Amino acid sequence: MARRTKSKPNRKKSAPAAATPKPAMTTARRKSAALLAKAVPPPAKPIVRAPAQRRLVVGITGASGVIYGIRLLESLKGSGIESHLVLTRPAEMTIVYETAYTPQQVKALADKVYPIADIGAAIASGSFQTLGMAVMPCSMKTLAEIATGVTGNLLSRAADVTLKERRRLVLVPRETPLHLGHIRNMASVTEMGAIVAPPMPGFYAQPQTLDDVINHTVGRVLDLFGIDSGLVKRWNGKPRKDV
Ligand SMILES: Cc1cc2nc3c(=O)[nH]c(=O)nc-3n(C[C@H](O)[C@H](O)[C@H](O)COP(=O)(O)O)c2cc1C
Repeated sequence: MARRTKSKPNRKKSAPAAATPKPAMTTARRKSAALLAKAVPPPAKPIVRAPAQRRLVVGITGASGVIYGIRLLESLKGSGIESHLVLTRPAEMTIVYETAYTPQQVKALADKVYPIADIGAAIASGSFQTLGMAVMPCSMKTLAEIATGVTGNLLSRAADVTLKERRRLVLVPRETPLHLGHIRNMASVTEMGAIVAPPMPGFYAQPQTLDDVINHTVGRVLDLFGIDSGLVKRWNGKPRKDV
């Protein structure tokens, strides 16, 4: 019987472990640290900017009540909060039908205006920081786009981005009466984190004019972003003495 010999692995004699790091290694590290310092210089300004960006995206669609969106832009003007406007083609038509403004005059109220087809605009990306977005008024068509995520233009894409970034999205839908599809879409967007705020006047504020009604609704929407516009006649908890 042949004796099996254990084959030894062909190992080379290992060099004795160095007690201290080689001087060549230290030099390499020093070189790479110097390179890194050159490539990534210390920031000239603090990296963290505070407070969070003060930008609000405003969407105006072709539903009735474009005056709400216009008043929102007017309220933001000079407030220190930048308005970033996108409006649909039907919104431009409704502006002409319902108000004394031209679409150009409405656009001039905003700090920044984006073409509806410019899907590469800043507001189409979540990396562009904002406080959130208000769609005011919001048509049933745009509501459906947001509810399904089938975002066919910059307005619904910006709303979709607002939702995915878990920022505040306030939709002011205008339609009546509602069919079940409308109601289901409102439920869907609510489940996704949006706030549905229909423009329903609060008569406790005792509005005297249409302007009072519009201001109250716009002010309550701004409340949802933590912005006190001064437009809201607030309930002070003191009813009339004879009640
Ligand atoms: C004067 C006018 C008023 C309208 N009012 C409403 C409305 O209150 N609600 C609604 O959902 N659509 C309304 N529409 C229809 C929308 O403009 C239409 O559905 C359009 O496709 C919406 O597109 P958009 O969401 O891209 O703006 C109105 C249209 C016009 C011309």
